[in-house]
Amino acid sequence: MATTIRNIVILTGAGISAESGIDTFRAGANGGPSLWEQHRVEDVATPEAFARDPDLVHRFYDMRRAAIQTKRPNPAHVALARLDAEWPGSLLIVTQNVDDLHERAGAPLGHNQRLLHMHGEHLKAWCTSCDIRSPWRSELSSRPPCPVCGARGLRPDVVWFGEMPYRMGDIYAALREADLFVSIGTSGAVYPAAGFVQNAVELGVHTLELNLEESQGSRMFHETRLGVASEVVPTWVDEILGRD
Ligand code: OAD
Repeated sequence: MATTIRNIVILTGAGISAESGIDTFRAGANGGPSLWEQHRVEDVATPEAFARDPDLVHRFYDMRRAAIQTKRPNPAHVALARLDAEWPGSLLIVTQNVDDLHERAGAPLGHNQRLLHMHGEHLKAWCTSCDIRSPWRSELSSRPPCPVCGARGLRPDVVWFGEMPYRMGDIYAALREADLFVSIGTSGAVYPAAGFVQNAVELGVHTLELNLEESQGSRMFHETRLGVASEVVPTWVDEILGRD
């Protein structure tokens, strides 16, 4: 790499949480079927599905919300949390994941985390009446009232297909300032996240992919390292922090 690296943008996907026991969406990671092989996107992950059959959609997200609370961060989350705590330049971890494993890995370090959930968070409920998002750990299928306004209009705070991911302006601003873009454990199948690599390349940013196998976007990266996240991510973090 020719330039000195100071500003880093990292994109994470379901692959970073696979070894924590959370199903990936496409390629089945833990020997079983992937999430979108078990459920049709059109049934559970669109605004139309929610309007048509809110009970089904709520049950699906209630199950997922309960499941993630039984999982633990793995060495890949821990390594990124360490990078976040120690990296002196600017850093933004953009995750497509709606689990809270990045946060939980970073919590013991007592650091104000530089993390953005572009597809929302399982552990928040969004009130469609007052538009306020509240921390949420239990179920939504019984239609509990919004803790702020009392209306029974809570929905999962998860970005569905056809909706705009969160904080795109902040992400593109960070990419414009970046020297390095790293993509971890994502298949490159869902836009706009899948387009970040092209954006970065056009901006002259060095690009690195860490993934289990070649993804749809692999050919666009300057460099790809294959392996499980729990191994390749800590190795890369040690390297960039000068500990290899
Ligand atoms: P995918 O399920 O599409 O892809 C997971 C990627 O992780 C694949 O490229 C796998 O090869 C890789 N992988 C699996 N196990 C791994 C491991 N142990 N270590 C490293 N890599 C591993 O998940 P995403 O790309 O995150 O969006 O999916 C993107 C979006 O599609 C999600 O955020 C979600 C989904 O539909 C919404 O729900 C809006």
